[in-house]
Amino acid sequence: TDNLRQLADQRGMLVGAAIEPNHLDEPQYAKTLKENYNFITPENRMKWGFIHPKKDTFDFKGADKIVDFALDNKMKVRGHTLVWHIENPSWLTSGNFSKEELLKILENHIKTVVGHYKGKVHAWDVVNEVIDVYTLRNTLWLEKIGPEYIEKAFQWAHEADPDAKLYMNDFFIEEKGVKSDYYYKFVKELLDKKVPIDGIGFQCHFDMQTPPDMGSIYDNVKRFVELGLDVDFTEVDFRIYGYGDETQLKNQAEAYSQLMNIALNFDKVKVFTMWGLTDKHSWVPVTYPESGDAHIFDKEYKPKPAYTSLVNAL
Ligand code: XIL
Repeated sequence: TDNLRQLADQRGMLVGAAIEPNHLDEPQYAKTLKENYNFITPENRMKWGFIHPKKDTFDFKGADKIVDFALDNKMKVRGHTLVWHIENPSWLTSGNFSKEELLKILENHIKTVVGHYKGKVHAWDVVNEVIDVYTLRNTLWLEKIGPEYIEKAFQWAHEADPDAKLYMNDFFIEEKGVKSDYYYKFVKELLDKKVPIDGIGFQCHFDMQTPPDMGSIYDNVKRFVELGLDVDFTEVDFRIYGYGDETQLKNQAEAYSQLMNIALNFDKVKVFTMWGLTDKHSWVPVTYPESGDAHIFDKEYKPKPAYTSLVNAL
């Protein structure tokens, strides 16, 4: 029988998982990953706090381990992320830098990191979560540099690796609504200004207590792809509150396949990355206490109904 990776390959889809480098030392983890996925996102290791711990020090070790594993196994890599408002090192957040200094720091960061992975990273989440519902998020970057930090970030990333695809990534923009409307206007302006942006990442962190409106996601994806942009599903998970019983796992499986079916409807939706591979190692219970069971392999690496439903959808 075909597994997820073979089917994804045949369909031209990138099916991914977010991972940490230490997981690769667990044989069953590594095996499940390379058998079933063709795309990897470092869950944390490319964030500033890890990769740029001091002003003049970059630490690529953890991220390199992930990238090497991916390339050794003929998988592609999504870089995550070059600009975010959290998980930043204290030298940056408490540095009291001037606008000019901060511009230099950001340019240096982006060119060094993207340059280090030139030719190895397929796509970058250049900016992450930079919009706060109906306005630009008030971050260090906005406050000190102004709104142009976003287009500059794209330009610097493009200069450092002209072949990498470049994205804005965010949550709560999957359905039509105030925040996705703002994004729609915002990316249109970037396109008009010829900013090198390839698409938009919909994170897709969902809660099975309040499942998303798949029709609304479909309509929303449609308007973004009609702008000529890719829409990538970058951080998919469907968390379950409490204990995932048979019915809940069945509903979750249905939700996973509905989302995959939306992707398969559009030529410009080629990425379906899940924010974790197994319920054994998951950000979900840490972030949403009493929720879990969000991924497609259980704690023993057994495929869950959601795995089967993705296989069937593909
Ligand atoms: C999360 C990681 O999963 C956690 O391990 C970490 O402690 C915090 O960040 N949106 C994003 C991701 O874009 O970077 C976040 O990842 C999850 C929400």
